[in-house]
Amino acid sequence: MKFLVLASALAVAIAAEIPSLSPISSVQGKAFNRLVIIWNENTDYDTNLKWLASHGITLSNYFAVTHPSQPNYISSVAGDYFGLNNDDHLEIPANISTIVDLLEAKGISWGSYQEDMPYTGFLDDFPNPVTKANMYVRKHNPLVSFDSVAKNPERLGRIKNTTLFEADLRNRQLPQWLFITPNMTSDGHDTSVTTAGEWTRGFIEPLMQNEYFMNDTLILITFDENHSYTSPNRLFTILMGGAVPNASHGTTDDNYYDHYSEISTVEANWGLSTLGRFDVGANVFSLVANKTGDAVRTHPDISSVYLNESYPGVFNGGKKSSWAPMPMPNNTMEWEGRKVLDSVVKNSQGGSGETYYTTDLVIPDKAHPPVYKKVAGSG
Ligand SMILES: *[C@@H]1O[C@H](CO)[C@@H](O)[C@H](O)[C@H]1NC(C)=O
Ligand SMILES: *[C@@H]1O[C@H](CO)[C@@H](O)[C@H](O)[C@H]1NC(C)=O
Ligand SMILES: *[C@@H]1O[C@H](CO)[C@@H](O)[C@H](O)[C@H]1NC(C)=O
Ligand SMILES: *[C@@H]1O[C@H](CO)[C@@H](O)[C@H](O)[C@H]1NC(C)=O
Ligand SMILES: *[C@@H]1O[C@H](CO)[C@@H](O)[C@H](O)[C@H]1NC(C)=O
Ligand SMILES: *[C@@H]1O[C@H](CO)[C@@H](O)[C@H](O)[C@H]1NC(C)=O
Ligand SMILES: *[C@@H]1O[C@H](CO)[C@@H](O)[C@H](O)[C@H]1NC(C)=O
Ligand SMILES: *[C@@H]1O[C@H](CO)[C@@H](O)[C@H](O)[C@H]1NC(C)=O
Ligand SMILES: *[C@@H]1O[C@H](CO)[C@@H](O)[C@H](O)[C@H]1NC(C)=O
Repeated sequence: MKFLVLASALAVAIAAEIPSLSPISSVQGKAFNRLVIIWNENTDYDTNLKWLASHGITLSNYFAVTHPSQPNYISSVAGDYFGLNNDDHLEIPANISTIVDLLEAKGISWGSYQEDMPYTGFLDDFPNPVTKANMYVRKHNPLVSFDSVAKNPERLGRIKNTTLFEADLRNRQLPQWLFITPNMTSDGHDTSVTTAGEWTRGFIEPLMQNEYFMNDTLILITFDENHSYTSPNRLFTILMGGAVPNASHGTTDDNYYDHYSEISTVEANWGLSTLGRFDVGANVFSLVANKTGDAVRTHPDISSVYLNESYPGVFNGGKKSSWAPMPMPNNTMEWEGRKVLDSVVKNSQGGSGETYYTTDLVIPDKAHPPVYKKVAGSG
């Protein structure tokens, strides 16, 4: 288990506050110039979320990729969860690339806003100091688990709390890709979907009048996972913002999407390279695909999609039989003209030599585990 570092009381490093950074850019995208991603927790739709949906498009076949929370967050930025089946303290080696590598290669600014994270550079959990209730949690902050981000102050400094979101908004210093995590109360985790809906509408509704925030912006509101483990892991998901034409408000898009679509849509919009994982070939949201020319494919059998348990992998905390090697990216994949990022290809030279990624639309789960194949020309 050399990739998995479990925190013991002694091993937890006390991370010091580091300077907060707010770099900006204005790289023109084909369908939007900013993506705002908001994740709630384990819940479903309610009246406030329905109100938001009436100002956007509902994605009625959008799926999580497993249970519990953390692997879903990880997958949405890395294109895989590498067998992760728990919410434990995770540190992923620096040669495992993420969406940050893709964005930076094109000069696109990015950031994340985490409600109640006590200071920039903080790497632990932070309960409410008075009530001791769960408040800010690391497992819902996807990028801090990657050493390529956490060990680089130039990157870690862009992961800030929502107080600094308000400051960046006022100063017109918002990045072009941003991920927002409400706290454990606000996101519905320790409360209910009513609270999650109230928080999300309370956050977005005032911003709908803000041209700087809304213009050419795509807002994705979704959940990490469905609350039920035994049913298909489908999520109530909305696209809204200035990039969604008024004529589409209140409509439904029933194409198959999952958390990997969050990466492929960004790749298509800005013509980025890929990670060579499940991001390649994941359906691009139709709203965006219509502008980029990406084909939106039909899933062969949506009735068999469960995605409710993790397949074996390097981060699987279960029995020995649930361990499997870290897959290499499939560097030969090319999709809609997009190739695997150069640095990913270089990093993976001399690796273990097995991959399980293809351009298939079907995402594996425990009942249908991924099949490793030797990468041609290596090992
Ligand atoms: C947010 O982060 C900043 C910068 O580290 C810190 O000064 C501030 O106290 C934090 N705000 C809250 C509400 O925790
Ligand atoms: C989370 O933030 C909300 C405000 O958005 C606040 O009402 C709530 O008390 C916070 N949760 C905790 C556990 O402090
Ligand atoms: C938003 O877009 C409209 C229409 O294209 C334009 O008139 C306006 O200046 C833009 N506002 C900002 C803040 O960029
Ligand atoms: C996942 O769903 C399948 C089909 O309903 C079910 O057989 C299986 O027990 C579920 N797994 C979990 C962990 O609930
Ligand atoms: C989440 O799962 C529950 C239980 O099966 C189901 O009723 C609900 O419709 C699912 N949510 C979505 C958005 O499909
Ligand atoms: C879209 O609707 C909003 C209000 O709902 C309005 O302010 C805006 O002008 C409309 N845009 C277009 C292009 O019609
Ligand atoms: C994309 O284009 C197709 C074909 O014209 C259309 O049916 C669909 O509604 C469009 N999707 C969105 C989300 O606008
Ligand atoms: C990452 O580095 C480790 C240790 O050098 C190596 O074994 C592994 O193959 C690399 N993985 C990838 C995906 O490059
Ligand atoms: C890489 O992906 C391509 C395209 O899906 C597939 O044909 C090929 O088999 C994959 N390579 C390996 C080693 O699995």
